[in-house]
Amino acid sequence: MLTTTTLQNEIIRLKKELDVCILAHAYQSHDIWEVADYVGDSYGLSVQAAGAKQQTVLMCGVRFMAETVKILSPDKRVILSHSQAGCPMAEQITVDEINELKKQYPDYSVVAYINTTSQLKTVCDVCVTSASAVKVIDNMDSDKILFIPDCNLGAWVAEKLPHKQFKFVNGGCPVHAAVREDDVLHAKKLHPDAKLLVHPECLSEVVKHADYAGSTTGIMDYAKSCPADEYIVGTENSIVQHLQYACPDKKFYPLSKDCVCNNMKLTTLVDIYNCLRGAGGEDISLSPDVMSKARRCIDNMLALGN
Ligand code: 13P
Ligand code: SF4
Repeated sequence: MLTTTTLQNEIIRLKKELDVCILAHAYQSHDIWEVADYVGDSYGLSVQAAGAKQQTVLMCGVRFMAETVKILSPDKRVILSHSQAGCPMAEQITVDEINELKKQYPDYSVVAYINTTSQLKTVCDVCVTSASAVKVIDNMDSDKILFIPDCNLGAWVAEKLPHKQFKFVNGGCPVHAAVREDDVLHAKKLHPDAKLLVHPECLSEVVKHADYAGSTTGIMDYAKSCPADEYIVGTENSIVQHLQYACPDKKFYPLSKDCVCNNMKLTTLVDIYNCLRGAGGEDISLSPDVMSKARRCIDNMLALGN
């Protein structure tokens, strides 16, 4: 029987032999973090994808992340670690619906959260991640922003940029949006001295209580550098575990035990091993037309967010 250590050693050997770069979103499990060349939030992964030296990239995360890598490096082979790993938010709006909205609001620029399909990105002006949204939108010439699809992240950005006008559609992350203010009140009662760290995909009734709100990487950086001893973590619960590894002398509590993304959890170490052996995962293939149109949207984010 395979053990975690045997698998990790085999993966490390194979990725070197086959010249594969393993990228992992921070919501992946810790055993996967340990074999990855880079771990980060959606923005960090996009930047890494644009500069990866290897000919093959294995993305451990969800489909839109692997598509982003393919769009930024069309000549590379890009493998998604588990073919069923998708983000439900990416499918919440269709191209036809965006085209309708553009007719309704012709003077608005369309800003798409990166958690969208490549097809959707072809009809948007710029995409953003939770880490880059405020800076990117602030740097845009347009003051009228149609923000799709996460209205919770959108509301958080709009509050920081009162000089811009925003319109939203009704979408969001089903995992983060399920956390309620009651969860905050309950967790604060149990841990009155803990700092509350939340992802802006959460509802505003949750975000308004936060000591810090930001991307996955932002939350981890804050917890590592803050002198406080205790933290309530309002994002995918893997971050609680990763922070506990990084800061064993501090205490981390999940804001909600249900804040778990089943899509991010699909990939296992065995899947990665199988991808490297050519026996698993999915080779990402997109039409050249979709790639070139969607790339404009991602390139605009990297230019305006830098
Ligand atoms: P970030 O990686 O931007 O923190 O977003 C979290 C997320 O939900 C990714 O799907
Ligand atoms: Fe999508 Fe939410 Fe899962 Fe991120 S945590 S992949 S936004 S469902």
